[in-house]
Amino acid sequence: MHGFPHGYASGWYQVGWSSEFAPGADAVPMRYFEQDLVCYRTGSGRLRISDAFCPHLGAHLGYGGSVEGDCLVCPFHGWKWDSEGRNVDIPYSDPDRMKLRLGQREVREVDGLVLMWYGADNEPPSWEAPRLLPEGSDHERDYWAIWPDTSKLWAGLKFPPQVATENSGDAAHFHYVHGAAEVPLVEEWDSGEHWFRTSFEATFGGHRPTTWATPQGPVKGRIVTTCHGMGIAAGLIESFDTVYTLAATTPVDRETSDHRATIWVPRKRGDGSDMSENFRDRWAKQQISQHEADFPVWENMTYIAKPAFTATEVRSFHALRRWIEGQYSPEAG
Ligand code: FES
Ligand SMILES: [Fe+2]
Repeated sequence: MHGFPHGYASGWYQVGWSSEFAPGADAVPMRYFEQDLVCYRTGSGRLRISDAFCPHLGAHLGYGGSVEGDCLVCPFHGWKWDSEGRNVDIPYSDPDRMKLRLGQREVREVDGLVLMWYGADNEPPSWEAPRLLPEGSDHERDYWAIWPDTSKLWAGLKFPPQVATENSGDAAHFHYVHGAAEVPLVEEWDSGEHWFRTSFEATFGGHRPTTWATPQGPVKGRIVTTCHGMGIAAGLIESFDTVYTLAATTPVDRETSDHRATIWVPRKRGDGSDMSENFRDRWAKQQISQHEADFPVWENMTYIAKPAFTATEVRSFHALRRWIEGQYSPEAG
């Protein structure tokens, strides 16, 4: 995208999937918000994200950093950092002399996702990471495993998270970009301090008597998208099956983002029968291709501060833009 005026909005951003990080495996390098980071899981299963560079002499802990019990061990001189970032061992000296610390990030695991807090001016989390599946559900018991089967990462795309957030309230593009039979109707929208929800009516399977997704014929359903801050756009697709999706966009720097799609496909279909692997794969493929359909527009468009809305777009889109503007701290621009 060209001409995007804002910096980064505070909030929770996805940096991976839980099952990517095995207990005790070597630390993995990451770069988000122009910061070099590493992610690892301790031997007892605690997920951690810390600064990448060892405070001793600057080795990158994501290239050869190993996990021993609760500690991350630097490959350069063997200094150990515990899961709070304390320097607890220098193999050839006394760590208490220097009291060094490795900076830690706030991280949560929700519904099989790894979410990291970004705070403008290093502010601590001002709201809790949201659940994306219904209360009482269990992502492992009730849904097919998301990683790597029903999820996908696209690294280094040229757009900021706001573009994906705005997309959730853009009714007309569902027809032109995503192949909806008609321009859907915005049924309603609602917002809180850090979430914005848009709900569309949609007819599924309207083109044919039956399809794999609508085995009992066309279904009048809904698409409900809830954005949590700028990083997370969580979707509910309510048709014959009820499928949950996530579009997560995490800035690498001001020009580039990583985008992740996650599709939680239920283990049971709408009529109570088992969801087969074949149907799981069809849902994943269909949803993932919908993410890809947006990218050519998002990467090449320019930012328009005051868009020319039609009468049907103006109220909901204005409300979404106003909520979005409120997510950026004044200092972050
Ligand atoms: S640079 Fe990490 S222990 Fe020396
Ligand atoms: Fe879209």
